[in-house]
Amino acid sequence: MKSIQVTGKRLKKQNKEVTSYISSIFWDRRLLKQVLRINTAHTLALYEAGEISEKDAKSIVNFLKSFTIEDEVDEDIHYLIERSAIKKLGIDVAGQMNLGKSRNDQVATAIRMELRETILSVVEELLKLQSFILSLSEKYKRNLIPAYTHLQRAQPVLISYHFIAYFDSISRSVERLFSLYSRVNLSPMGSAALAGTTIAINRMKVAELLSFDGIIRNGIDAVSSRDFVLDSISCIITVALDLSRFAEEIVLWSSSEFDFIELPDETTATSSIMPQKKNPVVAEIIRARSIVPLSSLVSSFSIMKALPYSYNLDLQEVSPNLWVAFDTVRDAVNMVSRIVSSLSFKVEAIEKKISHDYTCASFIAEYLSTSKKVRFRVSHAIVGEIVRSSIKKKIKFGDAIRTLLPVISKKYSGKKVLLSEKEIEKLLNPMEALRMIKTEGGSNPDDIDRELKIREEILERDMGSLNSARLRLREGLEKLEKEASKFGCS
Ligand code: ARG
Repeated sequence: MKSIQVTGKRLKKQNKEVTSYISSIFWDRRLLKQVLRINTAHTLALYEAGEISEKDAKSIVNFLKSFTIEDEVDEDIHYLIERSAIKKLGIDVAGQMNLGKSRNDQVATAIRMELRETILSVVEELLKLQSFILSLSEKYKRNLIPAYTHLQRAQPVLISYHFIAYFDSISRSVERLFSLYSRVNLSPMGSAALAGTTIAINRMKVAELLSFDGIIRNGIDAVSSRDFVLDSISCIITVALDLSRFAEEIVLWSSSEFDFIELPDETTATSSIMPQKKNPVVAEIIRARSIVPLSSLVSSFSIMKALPYSYNLDLQEVSPNLWVAFDTVRDAVNMVSRIVSSLSFKVEAIEKKISHDYTCASFIAEYLSTSKKVRFRVSHAIVGEIVRSSIKKKIKFGDAIRTLLPVISKKYSGKKVLLSEKEIEKLLNPMEALRMIKTEGGSNPDDIDRELKIREEILERDMGSLNSARLRLREGLEKLEKEASKFGCS
């Protein structure tokens, strides 16, 4: 009998250089575990459909169990597995492996399976980071930092309050990743090349064995859509954006100009010439690499744009972008966790800086409006002019209020507004001023415990969702292993 290759007889043998040029083997290594599972589930489905004998199913399952990649040139992992199976088991047994499936539905399925695990591993890293953020917030819940707008000191807030902002933004990313997960978690298997197959594959059963929540019904959609990749990269871009903003603040805060924090030595490096330097190198690399997912999105989007339905080999070139984007961001999250878990704030120095500045000015203007019945726009003007004079005359803000408030208030409101010494003290003491905040979710130090508690509950809820997603993956895998073991060697 003439020997038969997986590539068939339609074409002459492919040039090795060409094979290696179009090959996806390098990136397919990442998919190997998933592709083997897919082959196992499909073998079981073929047996159930009455297309292969129990004996052949057993041989194939055993072969898949022990398969390892060798350094061979091949178009992709799917061909490589089938070719090796035929070599080892013979065409009579392994020649039936690809009945009712195609590389098109296999690769789309494998990407989704690998992506599920990748998404969950990023979620895990994000939740870890959030728990470090909460510990840091707990530690600094009695300390202040100036918050900025336009990079100009704006209002004092608790350090914890600033970090809760990061926490909340990360929570939304986690939420997006979970919702993405449910769109990714659907099985293309059974779509074969694009139209489905004449083999009675039980798609729902295969989906279940591969731990999917359901199937992608339409075969063309199943093999040629990669919007889930674009969707995934978009989600991860938002994470990268958060990290890069954090990294930027770390760089600023650690400079002598701000001098707010001391970075752990292990996240910094010195200069080869200036011995005094402590450069925030980890933060800088996080900031720079945060662009990686964006370039991945642009590449993927550009490959997809105007591709005719259904499968085109161009799609093969989309996936590496996905892995690069996710790996880059996951590593960055891990590094941010390192920074957050060992970051220390120079609390006294910061408090000294803001004790004589103008960050309480808006609270004073609000106070004049609520307690002294001056229209806010007028009190805003009064305080603004006091600040101006205080800067110009180089006198402290408090002294400027004492001396100038009666005069300036008369000028703008027609009545002399007076503040008692006690009122001035309170308004200029940032911690006291913050206690006057009445709005829900505001930076009132009396509310911080409640705010932290809310976040602890969110974190617990998300950890629960992560664990149950992982559990469902494990259960499916166990089911596959159990069913396969009926055929596998024991
Ligand atoms: N290596 C391909 C990929 O990663 C597998 C699918 C190839 N399909 C095909 N019809 N050539 O997308």
